[in-house]
Amino acid sequence: MCLLLRRVNAMRKLLFLSLILFLGSHLSFAQSVAHKRAERMGVGMNLSYLDNYWLGTKEKNFSDFVKPAEAAKREQMLADIAKSGFKTVRLPMSFGAWASLKAPYEWVTPESLIVADSFVKWALANNLNVIVDLHHTELDGSVPNAAATERVVSLWKRIAERYKGTDPERVFFELRNEPHDIPAKDWRDQAEQIIKTVRGIAPNHTLIVGFHDWNSRAAMIDSKPFEDKNIIYTFHYYDPFIFTHQGATWSSEGLPELKGVSFPWSKDAKIETPATAKGKWVENQINSYKNDSDSKKMFDDLQAAKDWSEKNRVPIFLGEFGSFGKHPTMPDRCRHAETVYSALGKLNIPSTWWEWDGGFNMFEPGTGKIADCMRKAIDSYNPSKQKSY
Ligand code: GLC
Repeated sequence: MCLLLRRVNAMRKLLFLSLILFLGSHLSFAQSVAHKRAERMGVGMNLSYLDNYWLGTKEKNFSDFVKPAEAAKREQMLADIAKSGFKTVRLPMSFGAWASLKAPYEWVTPESLIVADSFVKWALANNLNVIVDLHHTELDGSVPNAAATERVVSLWKRIAERYKGTDPERVFFELRNEPHDIPAKDWRDQAEQIIKTVRGIAPNHTLIVGFHDWNSRAAMIDSKPFEDKNIIYTFHYYDPFIFTHQGATWSSEGLPELKGVSFPWSKDAKIETPATAKGKWVENQINSYKNDSDSKKMFDDLQAAKDWSEKNRVPIFLGEFGSFGKHPTMPDRCRHAETVYSALGKLNIPSTWWEWDGGFNMFEPGTGKIADCMRKAIDSYNPSKQKSY
């Protein structure tokens, strides 16, 4: 009898200890600063313009692209974004165009920085979380030294100094949008140096970091998190690309000429392969479109990203998704948006749609009003609590 009691007590102790261990590991998981901040990002929006380096003069390395009158319109847009229910705004900014190409890489158009400050201020005034995103670091790829590690680290030293006084609960620093034409290892080395530099200046701000190959989901899943604990990992999801980028003049391999791709695949809508796409990646994508536009396949893609986040115990964030509005119909675009938003909602992945007022916008054509079916798509993120994402 006594032996039995002792055993029962020992079992109880064991159970109690396991419970403490379980709670300990899960509570520290739930309470990580990066997780808490990611949790508050919810559904968000990209506000482009300060990334549009191509509006500048090539001979001046695009440094002059910001026009005050254009920039000023964004004050109202940030208010509209907040009013539409978005919680976070990602601000893509081509800081690299505003700095000299030679060490010590001083600002050559300091007035552009003042405009960037206003964007951050306007976003905060509307209670939005703000992502300061270093975009198009390599510009058009033709400017020598634009994305050299020493220069990018120096840009970050200046950016971090500039925004270190902002509220770290609300302002996030995204190290570099869509690194490409850079091997995975070289990007990792560059990112590590940026992280070290920013941490010396802004110890409490959450960093947003994506991986090589244009912040692809696959690159993230193939990578390991960095040592710094206060990081949210980002990826972009423009799948199926032949739907989201049909007619995109800045793409290649037949995408500029491609049109007539509906969502999802339908046997009645045959996709014509443009001559420029023959034998190219785009032709393969046309052939696999039936499967690629399947909602279960797309859910599984996003689930795989979530699995990576859980396995590594780090939060993730979908920084860009959306569709170019040139060719597809609004109902097609809305079906695509709803497929992604509803999956994000189920998987609890925060996001920012690309983009508020450019070619990927969500508006009813010819208006500044979010199309009804787009509203329904956004609401599918959180079906029970319409409007509060
Ligand atoms: C990336 C590019 C941006 C483009 C978008 C959609 O963010 O930087 O210029 O519009 O993807 O292709």
